[in-house]
Amino acid sequence: MVAQASEIPVPNIEELFRPTHDERARQGMVSFIRKLAIIDMRRALKEDYESRIEPRLDREGRKPADWQTIEKAMQQEHIFRFYSAVRYNAQEMCYLSVQPAVERALPAMVGLARDLAVRNPAGGSLRLNPDLELPKYITALDVHLTPGWVHSEHTADDVAQGAVVSFGGKVFTGQHPYRKRPGVVGESIAYWIGKKYPNFAPRRILDLGTTSGKNLLPYCTAFPQAEVHGIDVAAPVLRYGHALAEHEGLAAHFSQQNAEQTDFPDGHFDLIVSSFFFHEVALKATRKILAECKRLLAPGGLMVHMELPDEASVSPYENFFWNWDTHNNNEPWYTAFRAEDPLALCAAAGFDAARSFKLHIPDIATFGEERHARFMRGELPSPAHGAGGWFVFGAERG
Ligand SMILES: C[S@@+](CC[C@H](N)C(=O)[O-])C[C@H]1O[C@@H](n2cnc3c(N)ncnc32)[C@H](O)[C@@H]1O
Repeated sequence: MVAQASEIPVPNIEELFRPTHDERARQGMVSFIRKLAIIDMRRALKEDYESRIEPRLDREGRKPADWQTIEKAMQQEHIFRFYSAVRYNAQEMCYLSVQPAVERALPAMVGLARDLAVRNPAGGSLRLNPDLELPKYITALDVHLTPGWVHSEHTADDVAQGAVVSFGGKVFTGQHPYRKRPGVVGESIAYWIGKKYPNFAPRRILDLGTTSGKNLLPYCTAFPQAEVHGIDVAAPVLRYGHALAEHEGLAAHFSQQNAEQTDFPDGHFDLIVSSFFFHEVALKATRKILAECKRLLAPGGLMVHMELPDEASVSPYENFFWNWDTHNNNEPWYTAFRAEDPLALCAAAGFDAARSFKLHIPDIATFGEERHARFMRGELPSPAHGAGGWFVFGAERG
């Protein structure tokens, strides 16, 4: 019997990544160092600040009242310098540790992505624009300390940065060895929307700065009736994400566009989302993007962005902790974005203040459905951002 085309499994681009034993060992070690820095050393740093450094500054009449003063004081402390050095190096090593295996797999990855972009077996699509001018906040430096960030291309139809960012991200979050896991942020937002707006059935969904669609794909599953789109300025991550989605059997439409000005018609989307996006965008562009969201959102639509909590929402010490990335992780817009009130940004883009919101929502994968129901009834608070919860802001379009 001859198999129908639809019965032939679509190859998985991720399976072409085959690190050697030693490379895997190296990646495991990097995950461990990264965890040491971001969990254990972070905890030790805070304890030391509270029990030793702050009381000493207080005795000297210099108790810090804001995060800038805390940062200045901490920069003199060996514990902070050691933490920073470990965290910085761990970040760089996440990406470096996956590069050799990506390089070996590259010709096969390019070939597969190319084939899937023509065939679209799951019904998705990939639309690239080689003439798109990349914003300076993408090209000026290796954002996240990722060599070549998301956009660099060294061969025709290059997907390397998609693979480096994807596998480097797995090393970064300690998903070793490459446990398959959907985007927990998209999953958490989609779950929260389902509980908060039970009758909401978006026809079209847009994810801004989707990279390879990790936090876009959960919306395909949560809202199977919807047409799901992800945009990004960087071609390699879109090619890679499209190949992944087609393998997963999810019809997602990826296009290379600047979120500041897209080619979608007015009111085209019922739901616009993003994750880990705005803090990497110049503030001027953030304002333009939110105005573009207002243009693209249909009446009755909803916009939900997961981001870092703004300065006013957390303590001076936490602000000192979060803003570390501005100078140490090549994320120059981090502090400027966090200094803004997201509700004021929404209002400036034309959203109704009474219909705008910012809050923490639980991470559904770790919080669980039963506790989430209690959160929705107001009986339990959400964990803080990065500690089992996610900070989100957005607006309902009246
Ligand atoms: C940190 S990544 C986002 C990660 C992704 N949303 C996720 O959850 O896995 C930021 C992404 O935003 C994209 N980006 C930055 N500025 C953009 C713009 N103006 N328009 C579209 N994409 C943009 C970058 O190319 C990058 O892929």
